[in-house]
Amino acid sequence: YGLNTAAKAAHKLYFGTATDNPELNDTAYVSILKQYKEFGQLTPANSMKWYATEPEPGVFTFEQGDQIADLAKDTGKLLRGHNCVWYSQLPDWINNGTFTAPELKFIVERHCYTLVNHYKSQVNCPISDSWDVINEPFNDNGTFRTDLWYDVLGTSYIPIALRAARAADPHAKLYINDYNIEGAGAKASALKDLVKSLKDQGVPIDGVGVESHLIVGEVPADMQQNLAEFTALGIEVAITELDIRFEALPPSVAGLEQQRSDYETVVAACNAVERCVGVTIWDFTDKYSWIPSAFPGEGDACPWDANLLKKPAYYGIISGFETA
Ligand code: G3I
Repeated sequence: YGLNTAAKAAHKLYFGTATDNPELNDTAYVSILKQYKEFGQLTPANSMKWYATEPEPGVFTFEQGDQIADLAKDTGKLLRGHNCVWYSQLPDWINNGTFTAPELKFIVERHCYTLVNHYKSQVNCPISDSWDVINEPFNDNGTFRTDLWYDVLGTSYIPIALRAARAADPHAKLYINDYNIEGAGAKASALKDLVKSLKDQGVPIDGVGVESHLIVGEVPADMQQNLAEFTALGIEVAITELDIRFEALPPSVAGLEQQRSDYETVVAACNAVERCVGVTIWDFTDKYSWIPSAFPGEGDACPWDANLLKKPAYYGIISGFETA
């Protein structure tokens, strides 16, 4: 019995984790990662991003992404593609380039089509071969992020990317993925409006990824309600990057108990919403969490500690799936 077993018993498609290529040399880590009872799904934390997959215009490199896709395939896990179009981790030729709108439209189409097409052969289960086609398009106040895509193409880059992904793999679930949309607010509302407008225009959109990079003690009280509002738009949702960090370290015993309870709350919110298909944590161990490098002094956000031992949070996830 493990986290994925618990998810499946609750009629979810999977419980999964992000992973990254450098960690795959850590045999103790990999022996947990491979366990299907714990993880039925993988997301590559970096190796399918633009800088890794199209380092020069029209030159595609899939070795790193393939390593994770092959691991998923060999262990019977689902795979989430992450991501097609984002403002971050772009290759220099894009960051330093100047493009007309028609040029950039071609660039987005070529990238999305080629990437999604390559990984469609890795499909384990057509229902949940999912892609974060659009990653983090909004500012926290609900306005569109004025990144290079928006600057040149306005909001049109979104349907351009989604249509190219659909053309490449008609079975893949196409998502928009963002953070700070776990509870209601300006950003969640903006994303709901975007989904409505895409559906009105007949643009393919299958789901919203709710990242869920949260802080201990600060899980939004309306998370379940908010997830239900997304699914009421006729799409699915997934918790795509869950971690719950301490802002001060080390945590107390009471802190670890609060973290257990917070993991339970998030998982129970997904569990209670029929079209919340699964939960992915943004790596399973504090040893490889992204938090300390992005938020110095913070961390211990994962269900396994840096010594690969289960924390109370692990059992919070199990309880969350057992909440009717
Ligand atoms: O590849 C270089 C390596 O050559 C160099 O030696 C090393 C030195 O620091 O840096 C390496 O690049 C790092 C890269 O991860 C690959 O390991 C970057 O510094 C580091 O900033 C980058 O962090 C990633 C981050 O996205 C970038 O924004 C994290 O690993 C990754 O977990 C994180 O994931 C994002 C999701 O894609 C989107 N949602 C938020 C989430 C957390 O930030």
